[in-house]
Amino acid sequence: NRVLLLYSGGLDTSVMLKWIQDEYEAEVVTLTVNLGQPGEDYGVVEGKARQLGAVDTFVVDAREEFAHEYVLPAIKANAIYGLGYPLFTALGRPLIAKLAVDYARRAGCDTIAHGCTGKGNDQVRIEATVATLAPELKIIAPVRSWAMGRDEEIAYAREHGIPVKGGTEAAPYSIDDNLWGRSSEGKWIEDLSHAPEDDVFQLVTRPEEAPDEPQILTVDFEAGVPVGLDGERLGLVELIERAGDIGMRHGVGIVDHIEDRIVGLKVRDIYEVPAAEILLTAHRELEKLVGTIHQNQFKPELDRRWAYLVYAGLWYEPLRTDLDAYMESVNARVTGRIGLKLYKGSVRVVTRESPNAVYDAQLATFAESGGLFSQQASPGFIEIWSLQSRLAWRLRQSGEAG
Ligand code: ARG
Ligand code: SIN
Repeated sequence: NRVLLLYSGGLDTSVMLKWIQDEYEAEVVTLTVNLGQPGEDYGVVEGKARQLGAVDTFVVDAREEFAHEYVLPAIKANAIYGLGYPLFTALGRPLIAKLAVDYARRAGCDTIAHGCTGKGNDQVRIEATVATLAPELKIIAPVRSWAMGRDEEIAYAREHGIPVKGGTEAAPYSIDDNLWGRSSEGKWIEDLSHAPEDDVFQLVTRPEEAPDEPQILTVDFEAGVPVGLDGERLGLVELIERAGDIGMRHGVGIVDHIEDRIVGLKVRDIYEVPAAEILLTAHRELEKLVGTIHQNQFKPELDRRWAYLVYAGLWYEPLRTDLDAYMESVNARVTGRIGLKLYKGSVRVVTRESPNAVYDAQLATFAESGGLFSQQASPGFIEIWSLQSRLAWRLRQSGEAG
């Protein structure tokens, strides 16, 4: 039999590559998916896979699909889970799993192998997707079953000629990254009373070291899609990358938060999400400008449901598509330009423009606005608006009834 292994080139999946061949006497085909993780050399990853015995290796550049089909809907849904997490990993997993299904079928594999632990969200996201799209495929997750600790794993690697980075010193952070952000877990991060050490930040400049001069950045949107930065039209992948670079310089997008995993664990995560911080801040502001008070109160509830479904690995749940239809409907009017001021870790909206703004400077002004808004009508409005609350208040004041 043949196994398709989701291969990153790191220690776990390299050990898996050997282990699966030995344990299952199976041929292994590797798939490595490029979702825009910075600084990855895919030639090296592929060479390593072949050296460790892979009979075939695939590297897929899925950045365009990831940006348009996964990150963009997240932008339209202002997607943040648990008040801090812009879902970059959660968005990537269903795409990786879908590609695993495609390539497993193409390469004649009957099994998909992944490197997730049994304690995390990623196993749920990957396996839920595979089970939905290809129930005939088996799934193996060696890290869940091989009962090797870190030291045994390193010993196994040494024994099988698998290169181990950084010798035997303390385990590194557990990292995951793509176009939309980077996460770090493990080591001192698990100690809640331990403030972040500088070496965890590999993308974002520490705010105290960011430039002393603020930078104004404008973001253009058309129907909810970010289409330009500082007036220059850019494709989505390039726009996200560039927003990320600018944010990084200014120390923008550091998140240190506690997260409720689907499997019940509470975990501390450190995220670096400069592009998401910039683009979500701008999108939210523009959406608020073109929406009515009722839309603006309602959409965040649906946004939260959307984020939870995606976080929880249910990308193929029909409710997600139903919610997307609503997101599309609202976003049809999200066109315009938002100006942001970036300065030492902060992103602040400073200007807004939109042909669809539900805003009339004539009406809003403190100066005399002629007959457009009758201030004489306000006292009557207040009387009726407050009617029930006044009655209830009086009842409570009159005592006895309690
Ligand atoms: N806590 C985040 C999530 O659940 C990040 C997970 C990172 N995954 C990883 N394999 N390091 O999406
Ligand atoms: C893992 O446990 O495999 C990584 C973290 C996660 O999936 O939440």
